[in-house]
Amino acid sequence: MCGIVGIIGSTSVQSSIIEALEKLEYRGYDSAGIATISENEILCRRSVGKLSCLKNELSNAPVLGKIGIGHTRWATHGAPSIDNAHPHQVGKVALVHNGIIENYNELKAQIISEGGIMVSETDTEVVAAFCNMFLESGMSPEEAVSSTLGQLKGAYALCFIFEGNEDLIIAARKGSPLVVGWGVEEMFVGSDAIALAHLTNQLTYVEEENYVVISRKEAKFFNFEGKEQPSKKVFVNSESVLVTKSGYRHFMHKEINEQASVISYALGSYTSFDRKRILLPNQIPSFAKMDRLIISACGTAFLAGHVAKYWFEKISGLPSDIDIASEFRYREPIISKKTGAIFVSQSGETADTLAALRMAKSNSIETIVVVNSENSTMARESDIIMPIKAGVEVGVASTKAFTSQLLVLAALVIEAARQRKKISPKQEEEFINQLFAIPRLINEVLSRENEIINICSELANAQDILFIARGPLYPLALEGALKLKEISYIHAEGYAAGELKHGPIALVDSSVPIICFAPSNILYDKTTSNIHEVIARGGKVILVSDKGGLSDFKGDVWKSFEMPFSEPFILPILYALPAQLLAYYSAIEKGTDVDQPRNLAKSVTVE
Ligand code: G6P
Repeated sequence: MCGIVGIIGSTSVQSSIIEALEKLEYRGYDSAGIATISENEILCRRSVGKLSCLKNELSNAPVLGKIGIGHTRWATHGAPSIDNAHPHQVGKVALVHNGIIENYNELKAQIISEGGIMVSETDTEVVAAFCNMFLESGMSPEEAVSSTLGQLKGAYALCFIFEGNEDLIIAARKGSPLVVGWGVEEMFVGSDAIALAHLTNQLTYVEEENYVVISRKEAKFFNFEGKEQPSKKVFVNSESVLVTKSGYRHFMHKEINEQASVISYALGSYTSFDRKRILLPNQIPSFAKMDRLIISACGTAFLAGHVAKYWFEKISGLPSDIDIASEFRYREPIISKKTGAIFVSQSGETADTLAALRMAKSNSIETIVVVNSENSTMARESDIIMPIKAGVEVGVASTKAFTSQLLVLAALVIEAARQRKKISPKQEEEFINQLFAIPRLINEVLSRENEIINICSELANAQDILFIARGPLYPLALEGALKLKEISYIHAEGYAAGELKHGPIALVDSSVPIICFAPSNILYDKTTSNIHEVIARGGKVILVSDKGGLSDFKGDVWKSFEMPFSEPFILPILYALPAQLLAYYSAIEKGTDVDQPRNLAKSVTVE
């Protein structure tokens, strides 16, 4: 992962680079660094820890210069340390990198055999060393970068500056995102539009396997063969990418609270004015022609896809597989001409999901991406884009993107069911009415947040927590456990309730809380039987159900949380709320860093 930025400004660039890095911290935050050029000399500052540590260092020892690069790191090769932090400088070149250079061992050996010295454990330093070697052999910066790129295997977005040249940044991309921003007598480059939002609203997305030569006045784009490429400027609404906490203590809490309005907005984009039909905003997938659907994603997006598998099979009768993207790519799935594929991703840049999408495309099947970032690589490469319209999500733990992904997937399911003649117009209207009830029901859950705070005051003392549920809520048990462990660091696992007795029940004792999602529906009796099995073994049950479900339960639960009653179709969207809130308030109890949990990053652009 990692976030990178480069600026050629008309005044000192230190503060603009730091501001850009603040926006990029969601990509990694274990160390950070900046390099500028002043009086023809490269000045570099690096520090371990979050950006605040680098800011402290810069307040004691600022860097001057109207050109510079910056980096916020998520370590892949080499622990977070000063030596491993970027920028890496070798001789007359300094650079920042997002990605992984897969053949770095080979390249490192070559440099060392030629008398070079490598000071870091990173895969990145070899890039600087090769570039410097080419410069020393008499090449121009552009020739040196181009020759260096020819040596590299793997994925990268790279940004180079050169000692003695205060009007030149060269940036290159293969597999990792990169965007150029246009100013007046100023130019910018960074990992995404958010990083540049405070600087410009005119952007050009760098195409795959292209590099860009940037001066104060212009940017020229080239493919890796050195042929100049046409470029397209897009204008972004800066407001839409400028994000603040709006008075909330954490972005995650703000984003949880935005879900009702975000879903209302997405609903408006996916339904007809009279609320009788699903109207997809872009091209229409040909579900009627498909005999099978592959859904693939990573992390929380994978769990949204997991719910969709249940929906597609039950409501539209379309056989569906759900696959973790990193597994899908390598398990040689059988893909026929009638297979369709949906990829789900908040960022649209997750390396494994992107690779899975490309694999599906290479099999010439229809690809659909359910994505938040509409300018992302996945959005540009898939056949059909289904934007979730959730707005920028900053919290590393995905919340509003998850429920919006579910909403859009639900719309696709209804569309598929209509195309495949599995539902009547009346049933379509009923499903849509159910979707329109979601914002009100979300607000009902949020109005009872205090009860979750009370539960978490004790729950957060647990060492291990289990989540159980059945049917389309089973992925929500997985999501509850994932959210809890990623931000509170409490060990948690999600299980299909019926599977508990096949192993996990051995863990049950009075110290292990078991959170059960058991709405009063067709699966209620089966789920509550499993709850009784837990109670009989001294387990502490937290029952999350509606009024009917709670009052019908005959047994002693440790704690309970009442959900509003709702139609079965929309339950997975609603039960996301207690899953998110239990994790959030447990993390608050434990005092962890909610928006930037340890070891994680929001956009995972390495495999
Ligand atoms: C990371 C994030 C998760 C996210 C996953 C997939 O692991 O921490 O919150 O669900 O990546 O990201 P994507 O952008 O593809 O949805």
